[in-house]
Amino acid sequence: MLGNFSYYNPTKLYFGDESLNFLKDELKYYGPVVMLNYGGGSVKRNGIYDQVVGILHEAGKTIVENGGVMSNPTLEKLNEGVKIARANAIDLILALGGGSVCDYSKAVAASVYYDGNYWDQFWLKQQQPAADQRLLPVACILTMAGTGSEMNAGTVITDAEHTFKVGHVFDSRLMPKFSILNPRFTMTVPAEQMKAGIYDIMNHIMEQYFSDFDDNTSDYLAEGLMRSLITSSRIAVKNPEDYEARSNIMWTATWALNTLIGLGKREDWMVHMIGHSIGAWTHAPHGFCLASVSMAYYRRALRPGLPKFVRFAKTVWDIRGDGMTDEQIAEAGLEALEAWMEEIGLPLTISELGATSEMVPGITEGTICHPAGYMNLKPEDITEILRDSLGAALG
Ligand code: NZQ
Ligand code: ZN
Repeated sequence: MLGNFSYYNPTKLYFGDESLNFLKDELKYYGPVVMLNYGGGSVKRNGIYDQVVGILHEAGKTIVENGGVMSNPTLEKLNEGVKIARANAIDLILALGGGSVCDYSKAVAASVYYDGNYWDQFWLKQQQPAADQRLLPVACILTMAGTGSEMNAGTVITDAEHTFKVGHVFDSRLMPKFSILNPRFTMTVPAEQMKAGIYDIMNHIMEQYFSDFDDNTSDYLAEGLMRSLITSSRIAVKNPEDYEARSNIMWTATWALNTLIGLGKREDWMVHMIGHSIGAWTHAPHGFCLASVSMAYYRRALRPGLPKFVRFAKTVWDIRGDGMTDEQIAEAGLEALEAWMEEIGLPLTISELGATSEMVPGITEGTICHPAGYMNLKPEDITEILRDSLGAALG
């Protein structure tokens, strides 16, 4: 393990089907006014909203509601939330929903007391709030597994007007103070969203795993998480009601992106950079955007990252490799990944998401390029990857 790092994660977790019971205890540490952010209505239909509002009332809180946080939250909606928070002297922002609501809540928390153009400062210029800037505390009640937003400081916002989706990872001050993870709350997630979440988890692990060649404990942790996810995903896709599988998926999602398995690593994140731009153009679920370019991306990374792809094939996919060259072993690992993606029903081309060859220049332009795991891609490489991802019919 060659890297230098510090480690701090302030988010307190409550996990399990009784975890909501702890909300009331936590609420006593915060003032009376709670901003309750939620999405398009799933929490009202499945009854979680009523449970949470009941607990807030019991705790004597004043609720400032802000529903309608859309999947892939927009800058326009962020502006609306900031306005509401500024008008109501909020003491705690409570996110009730999936990654979108959690991300959004952190974005509001960072922006309320910023005296200037927060979009420009935090997302376009990627700055951190000043040491003396007030930040509102955020807590999450998670209803969908995937992003890891419940235990990280990531906030991905879409500027719909300019077809540009961009993430900013804030410093640890914006991590949720506590998060409640009840796997039962994820049971009503539509099958397509569950699958998108599963691939988002897998890809978070791969984005960190496919960098560097040193012997690093983080990679062993990543391999264990990937094996657990593959096992549980196969069960959950066949039987979404399987609590054990759904709980493993939820827990794996948290550890896949709560900064632990990236320690001591340079990390990659180019599939996410391309995926975000695809998302801005197609509005497809985040995990599907990642899946749709992954095979073209990783086949390209295979040669420069060969030893790691061999290890991935052997350790994650149990490829024995007897009598095979390293290239053949690595390729067999990617074939196993592709077969699993097909088995659980993920899109393997961007065409399946509605992307067309006419969109390729725009998606390329919206992709932020940086030196990544094993490659240093230029816009023309992104274009090639996107063309490879259109699929046989359109490519
Ligand atoms: O809006 P509602 O009605 O609640 O419906 C949501 C939404 O339509 C629904 N849903 C969630 N929980 C449900 C449910 N439906 C029924 N029952 C439940 N229990 O699922 C849909 C998707 O929800 P969303 O929150 O958008 O999904 P996800 O958790 O995948 O979040 C996606 C966002 O997170 C960002 C993505 O870019 C995207 O904007 N990411 C955040 C990251 C981070 N913070 O570190 C990292 C990720 O890589 C990702 O970029
Ligand atoms: Zn992701």
